[in-house]
Amino acid sequence: MTALRADTPGCESVVHFNNAGCGLVARPVLQAMTDHLQLEAEIGGYEASAAQEVRVRDFHASIAELLGTRPGNIAFAGSATHAYTKALSAIDFQPGDTVLTTRNDFVSNQIAFLALRKRHGVEIVHAPDHPDGSGVDVDAMAALMRAHRPRLVAATHVPTNSGLVQPVAEIGRHCRELGLLYLVDACQSVGQYPLDVEEIGCDLLTGTCRKFLRGPRGSGFLYVSDRVLREGYEPLFIDMYGARWTGPDTYRPVDTAARFEEWEFPYATLLGCAAAVRYALAVGLEPISRRTPALAARLRGRLAEIDGVRVLDGGPAPAALVTFAIDGWQPQPFKAALDELSINSALSLREFAQFDFGDKDVDWCLRLSPHYYNTEDEVGTVAAAVAELAARGQRIH
Ligand SMILES: Cc1ncc(COP(=O)(O)O)c(C=O)c1O
Repeated sequence: MTALRADTPGCESVVHFNNAGCGLVARPVLQAMTDHLQLEAEIGGYEASAAQEVRVRDFHASIAELLGTRPGNIAFAGSATHAYTKALSAIDFQPGDTVLTTRNDFVSNQIAFLALRKRHGVEIVHAPDHPDGSGVDVDAMAALMRAHRPRLVAATHVPTNSGLVQPVAEIGRHCRELGLLYLVDACQSVGQYPLDVEEIGCDLLTGTCRKFLRGPRGSGFLYVSDRVLREGYEPLFIDMYGARWTGPDTYRPVDTAARFEEWEFPYATLLGCAAAVRYALAVGLEPISRRTPALAARLRGRLAEIDGVRVLDGGPAPAALVTFAIDGWQPQPFKAALDELSINSALSLREFAQFDFGDKDVDWCLRLSPHYYNTEDEVGTVAAAVAELAARGQRIH
């Protein structure tokens, strides 16, 4: 495997696995953001965004290129969660409406559905997993679509709690056939795999720039299909950017996905995101999608050989989120031990994955997320460190 060693500021001493999937900011991102802040300091915020108008517009153009759509179908958001809740707020849920989802949907999405149940009386249906461990059972999910005619079908492409890759395009084909509204959370897959919203067949898709895209924190985006725009979906709270105040009693949403944005933008962040996307496109999503999960597979293989370690990721071709349980350790001390060795990692707790961790009978796991800029040697270093910690167990101080 050849390393795709990227422009990564200062990565000598730390094994910079994506911490919680949060990738190292790429050098052009850092440059774009600091340049813009410099400009804001020199000429003023409004003037700086005007001066950078072409680059600012590239946020929408670059994400559109990444997802196989047009700039007018993309909205900036402050996080993937922000994009997701804005999308949900556009659906006029009525008591008795169904949200059909999976047992591996992101924790915050599940909490949002429960909040909709509390406030609007929606019913939440979880499609069962396939018995072979490959993720959701798409045939069973399609049967539930026909039985419930859900107001919304929602799936997370790669959940935060494991490397499972859900068959989002297969789900999308059924949604298209049945004319159902389909929302995909691509937070952990964008930047790791080539994505095409037409191929996935979704109406709405959310993502972040800070994980596998290696952009800044506090950023996300929402894809909104032409169908959703045409049918007049709009976020519950729409501002003077998303709509025109056409008379004392009237307003008209704008025609594009800008309907889901607000007047105020963090311009340095927006420019950083555009730089991150351009950078990922230049490195190439195909090579990234070959190398990143392959590094993860190598790590999984090494961890699986360690006594007292149980690798937890299911599915035929898991993504670069490597999760495992380890005997003899409590979660925080284990993560702290890795921190001490300068190995970036993240904990996943039962409360992040009530279904998945119940099925796997674990209360927590550790997640390691290698990225294309990591090396085989680093994978070896991390595996050796875990083996050492597994052998020694947690010392009570
Ligand atoms: C699958 C998935 N969806 C959504 C999110 C939320 O992203 P953000 O923190 O940018 O809102 C995460 C974060 O870890 C995630 O893993």
